[in-house]
Amino acid sequence: MKTIKKCLFPAAGYGTRFLPATKATPKEMLPILTKPLIQYGVEEAVEAGISTMAIITGRGKRAIEDHFDISYELEHQIKGGSKENLLTDIRSLITNCTFSYTRQVQMKGLGHAILTGETLIGDEAFAVILADDLCTNKKDNILQQMIKIYERYECSVVAIEEVPLDETSKYGIIAGELIDGSDNVYRVSDMVEKPEPKDAPTNMAIIGRYILTPDIFDILKTTQAGKGGEIQITDALLTQAKQGKVIAYKFEGKRFDCGSVDGFVEATNWFYEKRKEL
Ligand code: G1P
Repeated sequence: MKTIKKCLFPAAGYGTRFLPATKATPKEMLPILTKPLIQYGVEEAVEAGISTMAIITGRGKRAIEDHFDISYELEHQIKGGSKENLLTDIRSLITNCTFSYTRQVQMKGLGHAILTGETLIGDEAFAVILADDLCTNKKDNILQQMIKIYERYECSVVAIEEVPLDETSKYGIIAGELIDGSDNVYRVSDMVEKPEPKDAPTNMAIIGRYILTPDIFDILKTTQAGKGGEIQITDALLTQAKQGKVIAYKFEGKRFDCGSVDGFVEATNWFYEKRKEL
């Protein structure tokens, strides 16, 4: 059975909504409690059985590489002390995963960032996690749920949730037909990047989890700049959707938009309460 072995993390964006915090710190390194956003994403991928991480970085993002590497001075300093256990999770990721990096030299949009990862991914289907969409679920995490869908349909899969109609201009929006009698799997017929509410086909928004088949790379190479003058993954996916090859999956679980200050604070509060319960 085909399955997913690699996960791509576009992480080259400037994070302007979090200035000045993101002036010299990658937005992906902002912590929810004590863990940076990108580590939550990598842990989600690991739980889903993935150990090859491909990270698209840019200028000013070296802290991400340092995070997924051993810090010998620090290890030496805290060895045998009460704080040593704080590094257990990150150590296990470093031991069990491979991290590869490539730089997106020009900021030409999410589609362009994904295309930059072609050499790290090769000719196989792969997952994409946008770390600022922080997702959590009691049972299977969102990527695990999506991989099951991919294994059933063997085509690209996007995660969706319903958003208030006045927020459609923040997301890629899909239209599609319910299939298999379930209430959460749609065959996508249309998708539009960040439409105004009056132009939105539905209120079903793509959130930052994708499974993409590798033909997406060739499609991206000929995808013209779209919304905001950027190469949009939504536009490339529409080409696949027209061939009936995109599934939208209404996932189980909770998503925090940590790319916005409100969502970031909400996630912080939620994880803080959860930690107190432990
Ligand atoms: C990107 C995509 C958009 C998607 C969103 C999910 O937008 O372009 O289609 O809905 O991620 O978070 P961004 O949030 O990077 O502007």
